[in-house]
Amino acid sequence: MGTSEVVLQVLSGAAPRLLSSDIGSGFLDSTFSSRFLLKCTKKRASRYKQLFKCSNIVQNHIGVSRYMGLCSDSFGYNEVNKVQRLICKCQKAERLSGTTAADGNGTWFVDNAKTLNLNGVTKKPNILEFENVQQFEQENKGLASNGSVGTVRDTTSKTSVDSIEDEAWDLLRDSMVYYCGSPIGTIAANDPTSSNVLNYDQVFIRDFIPSGIAFLLKGEYDIVRNFILHTLQLQSWEKTMDCHSPGQGLMPASFKVRTVPLDGDDCATEEVLDPDFGEAAIGRVAPVDSGLWWIILLRAYGKCSGDLSVQERIDVQTGIKMILRLCLADGFDMFPTLLVTDGPCMIDRRMGIHGHPLEIQALFYSALLSAREMLAPEDGSADLIRALNNRLVALSFHIREYYWIDMRKLNEIYRYKTEEYSYDAVNKFNIYPDQIPPWLVEWMPNKGGYLIGNLQPAHMDFRFFSLGNLWSVVSSLATTDQSHAILDLIETKWSDLVADMPLKICYPALEGQEWQIITGSDPKNTPWSYHNGGSWPTLLWQLTVACIKMNRPEIAAKAVQVAEKRIARDKWPEYYDTKRARFIGKQSRLFQTWSIAGYLVAKLLLADPSAAKILITEEDSELVNAFSCMISANPRRKRGRKNPNKTYIV
Ligand code: GLC
Repeated sequence: MGTSEVVLQVLSGAAPRLLSSDIGSGFLDSTFSSRFLLKCTKKRASRYKQLFKCSNIVQNHIGVSRYMGLCSDSFGYNEVNKVQRLICKCQKAERLSGTTAADGNGTWFVDNAKTLNLNGVTKKPNILEFENVQQFEQENKGLASNGSVGTVRDTTSKTSVDSIEDEAWDLLRDSMVYYCGSPIGTIAANDPTSSNVLNYDQVFIRDFIPSGIAFLLKGEYDIVRNFILHTLQLQSWEKTMDCHSPGQGLMPASFKVRTVPLDGDDCATEEVLDPDFGEAAIGRVAPVDSGLWWIILLRAYGKCSGDLSVQERIDVQTGIKMILRLCLADGFDMFPTLLVTDGPCMIDRRMGIHGHPLEIQALFYSALLSAREMLAPEDGSADLIRALNNRLVALSFHIREYYWIDMRKLNEIYRYKTEEYSYDAVNKFNIYPDQIPPWLVEWMPNKGGYLIGNLQPAHMDFRFFSLGNLWSVVSSLATTDQSHAILDLIETKWSDLVADMPLKICYPALEGQEWQIITGSDPKNTPWSYHNGGSWPTLLWQLTVACIKMNRPEIAAKAVQVAEKRIARDKWPEYYDTKRARFIGKQSRLFQTWSIAGYLVAKLLLADPSAAKILITEEDSELVNAFSCMISANPRRKRGRKNPNKTYIV
């Protein structure tokens, strides 16, 4: 039985949970009614409501201009080249009058419709009802103390909190970025010693995740809600690089709030949200992980705050579906894993991870499961839900079977036959045993194993990538046995992976000619530095979630202790260098927000492990069932039953 047959059989009858219809239909037929006005002007009223007026501005780009302005307009996907920015006009004079959203009485509303038609799905206006949020927060603060997932600590009882934690909270709050008076994210780094800011003054989507989780766990929901809704608005803009627009649904890597003079008014300014989809990023890397993290955070927000109204909104539902469509669209690939270019995630420079890197696959799997949970049932959703379910099964089978290595599997690869032309080849990807790197033969412990970094035709990237492995545990992409084995490996290889500062981003480093060829002689990614075997304190939070999921929190607690010895003294560096993480990284930022937030999330979760469930996804029985059918249909298991007629060696 073929894979797809198994999947279809197992999943037929699965209840459709999605709204929309056809996926993978090539270009999305997008129709914008360009009259998009997010009003947030400010006026004094009895309750000091704050209103801002935002409009959608299109700028000329390489000579092709099109003004969307206020008139209704519709255009095709690739029709024009343009840069769009979400502009919030915040009249300075009014701001000086003293009312801000921080007053606690802000009201946001959209006074006009932006209609985005995607294969028949209409994206409705964004309605940011801050009054409702605040009410919700009040209610849920009460709720949380009555035992819901969200844990609200007494922020005033500082005496009971460790001084490092106090400092971390102060720094995290200092890193908050405001848009029209409301918090919408955290800056990547707040390093007063750095002369070259680059884009570290931006809000990065991936960097905000630990910040957002820390705020959620603290019962501060509005910053996360604002972040989710504003990045959603950025998602729908078209973006262009040298006459080419990437697929719709892409979330930016980062955005910046800029204050610019208001046209025609010398004494007023407006705030502008300016996203970067990779078109300005170093190396022009497309952020594949942003949309996946956005879905994961959206689910966590709902679970923690109890406010499901955000994920139920039509525009949010459409946003989820746009991300799914982009990820599930048909391509040339034979694998269920997502095919991406180099640097599509936390490792956002050339590091030889192009192809099917584990980190993206783990986030993809986690986002698919999260989306399935959140999508509202609607007529016409059957195709999308079927595609999503099929992909989940195929993806977990593929990763568990082909990415997994331990002593036994390594020995199996060592004895592989090659050049098998057949449908039931054992060595499906034609891996030559000589590819097994000498370091791995020594390094692989008898107990433990891990998921390799990447799998391509005739190529296995045997490096250990921490985030991909940890998130495979958190999302249940790895089996229970594999998850324990990954944690066993981290324990056994503590001095390599944790050493003087948790956690190595990958192991081992690329050196010599390999470094030259694979990184392009990147001076930032020299061996045991930055992405190339550097140690990143932010990874503490993912380690903690994974350990809690497997009921082994003591591993994470030990790593937190290691970090606590020096992280505050070292001023919260972005990363550490050397094999044992002894030095603060060569070009490392200090006061890196996700180092601070990662530490805080680890502490908060270790204090209340049950809160980790906002991030964890458990495998459902449908998937387990489908997976076991596929395992029994796998030729590798049937190797004993030889069928010579079916094997052709060319
Ligand atoms: C670096 C990291 C990336 C991070 C960014 C902002 O580019 O590689 O993962 O998002 O800095 O901190």
